[in-house]
Amino acid sequence: MLHKSAREIQSYQSLLPEEIHVRTVQAKEALGHHLVILGHNYQRDEVIEFSDFQGDSLKLARISSELSDRKYIVFCGVSFMAETADILSPSNQVVILPDLAAGCSMADMAELEDVETVWESLCAIFPAEEKVMPVVYVNSTAELKAFCGTHGGITCTSSNAQSVFRWAFEHREKILFFPDEHLGRYTAKSIGLKESDLLVWDPSLPNGGHTPEEIRQATVLLWKGFCSVHLMFRPEHVRAFRSNYSDLKVIVHPECCEGVVEQADLVGSTELIIQTVSNSAPGTTWAIGTELNLVNRLKRIHADKKIFFLSPTVCQCSTMFRIDPIHLLWAIENLVDGHVVNRISVPADEKWWAGRALDRMMSLGF
Ligand code: 13P
Ligand code: SF4
Repeated sequence: MLHKSAREIQSYQSLLPEEIHVRTVQAKEALGHHLVILGHNYQRDEVIEFSDFQGDSLKLARISSELSDRKYIVFCGVSFMAETADILSPSNQVVILPDLAAGCSMADMAELEDVETVWESLCAIFPAEEKVMPVVYVNSTAELKAFCGTHGGITCTSSNAQSVFRWAFEHREKILFFPDEHLGRYTAKSIGLKESDLLVWDPSLPNGGHTPEEIRQATVLLWKGFCSVHLMFRPEHVRAFRSNYSDLKVIVHPECCEGVVEQADLVGSTELIIQTVSNSAPGTTWAIGTELNLVNRLKRIHADKKIFFLSPTVCQCSTMFRIDPIHLLWAIENLVDGHVVNRISVPADEKWWAGRALDRMMSLGF
């Protein structure tokens, strides 16, 4: 019997949207219960439409850990999310990222080698393993999660960072948080720490740019990383909206800078933003500081509310946007033919240790 070779993505480029739609429905039907498609809240509508579950990174991580009966998880999100799904799933389950170029620029800001260098610097100052809890934002590579797992550390997402920080302080007196300075600062302050307790660690400088004494004094060390999408929102944008709309509410993601989160009425994960805006009364006015596709979807769904994107400049997550209907169709039609394309497979050792850090987070129960 002749076996078909894997289909090439180039042959999909000329398809019309209607054809893509019909074939995606057919491929999903053909795969039936073997397949689950997960869609992060930032995905475009044409992709979300085909996802069996949508959510923020925590919700999708939990769902992927509960679907061991599915042969294929097609993850419409970015690479760290697909890696997390692979870490949390049994080894015979296949996780696919429809476009391998869908990464996260913030996750790329911390590399294992640099984190290991920081840890060595800390060990030269005090017994880091006893004093410092490494806490890694899920927006990070699997090897950084594995680093945390190895050192008794933990992962967090934007929806559980406060509980994770509290847990960390029950076990050790300091936190090394990476790679998002802004989520780290917001979280630390929201549980009562002051600016003087925090130290921003610049990985390009020896000792992060600090003296051993400054490091001894600090309670939370914040890796100097950021999300360029969320840093587009500025404090002056909040002020401009407030001066134009007296009854306006501002809701933002905690990856925004301090000047923005300080002025916001509410701060939270993409899921919290969706729930809050969806549950608000008709006629409510919102300015939302998070990714454009999500804000535009909320606008469309809630035509009875006035919803604005917080920045005058369009800023969407270009890597999330790499996942499009063409790549989704290409990935699942190949599965129908028995070919796995773009599998995300975390090496076994890394998977085990990263799993320890994720399990600690999951066991806090959210
Ligand atoms: P959530 O976990 O809130 O969905 O955020 C993920 C993310 O990448 C935000 O930029
Ligand atoms: Fe990464 Fe920012 Fe995109 Fe979120 S919005 S996936 S943090 S680049």
